[in-house]
Amino acid sequence: MTTLNIGIVGTGWFGMMHAEKLSKIDGVKVAAFEATSQEKADRAAQKFEGARGYDSIHQMLDDRKLDAVYICVPPFAHGEIETALIERGIPFLVEKPIGIDEQVPSAILKGIETKRLITSVGYHFRYMDGTERAKELLRERTVGMALGYWMGSMPGVSWWRRMEGSGGQFVEQTTHIVDLLRYTAGEVTEVYAAYGDRIMSGKQDGVAVPDVGTVTLKLASGAVATISNTCAIPAGDRTGLHIYTDKGVLELGHGGLTDIEAGRRTEYANRANPYELENEAFLHAVKTGDASRIRSTYADAWLTHRVTIAANESARTGLPVKL
Ligand SMILES: NC(=O)c1ccc[n+]([C@@H]2O[C@H](COP(=O)([O-])OP(=O)(O)OC[C@H]3O[C@@H](n4cnc5c(N)ncnc54)[C@H](O)[C@@H]3O)[C@@H](O)[C@H]2O)c1
Repeated sequence: MTTLNIGIVGTGWFGMMHAEKLSKIDGVKVAAFEATSQEKADRAAQKFEGARGYDSIHQMLDDRKLDAVYICVPPFAHGEIETALIERGIPFLVEKPIGIDEQVPSAILKGIETKRLITSVGYHFRYMDGTERAKELLRERTVGMALGYWMGSMPGVSWWRRMEGSGGQFVEQTTHIVDLLRYTAGEVTEVYAAYGDRIMSGKQDGVAVPDVGTVTLKLASGAVATISNTCAIPAGDRTGLHIYTDKGVLELGHGGLTDIEAGRRTEYANRANPYELENEAFLHAVKTGDASRIRSTYADAWLTHRVTIAANESARTGLPVKL
């Protein structure tokens, strides 16, 4: 079996999480790391046999023949990395969100489509057992509305706390719930957002993002939804999407799915690791050219991203935004 050589861009929490998981897969070699300094890249590379570190994407791609690259950088850092990979025709898996505005991801998408490049985006909720079961059940049900949540505390990393670093909570974190809504209930046609700044600014270092928000969404089907988020409470509360249908409620969360029909509750726990399934789907595509197992391509993720950017615009202008 030929070995797939993988490069990792970004050596923070998620870059290293992906590297660890990839290094355990037969036929996969984590061959290169690119970071914001040579020292950081070398420190990451030391942990993986035969891997090398680089402080420039171009040097990494000149020096190593890579079959695919995982991009695990903060939201503000997208653009140059993807462009370099598109130019060389190298497939990539990029962590969500794909940017902090609409322009950079739109230009990247154009390049991907021109080259017909294999891509995957880290919307891992799509690979959860509960999500799969919800999609099956929804084939026989009519969605009336959905309520989504990402209720948590303020992340410690500095880029997250600035709009120009992360795009804010709705773009950075709650994007998973927007994606889950699109994946289970269909396309969003209009958003209206209200954000607030209630608790965190001035309380913790460098916080300049809204810390509460509620977004109302209209769907192409005629269904409606609201998705709310906060990053101002001391510890994580609920994260998930509750879908109200003609048969009852489907409650999707990190743990799995609860199907509530006329008061009867059926639980479907998430068993498989969604990141492993996400890797399997992407690596299969890289190996064979068959991308049908990838549940979130760049083009699909762009549609989710567009909804979150429209929410930011609506919160800023006070007006609904049609998509
Ligand atoms: N799918 C998920 O559940 C999930 C979970 C965690 C993080 N993420 C996403 O992964 C991304 C990274 O998050 P993280 O938690 O690893 O952040 P992090 O801050 O721990 O790590 C990001 C790293 O990227 C580096 N970096 C910045 N610009 C770079 C560039 N141009 N080239 C190379 N490296 C660069 C930073 O110096 C840092 O070391 C974010 O978009 C985040 O939303 C996704």
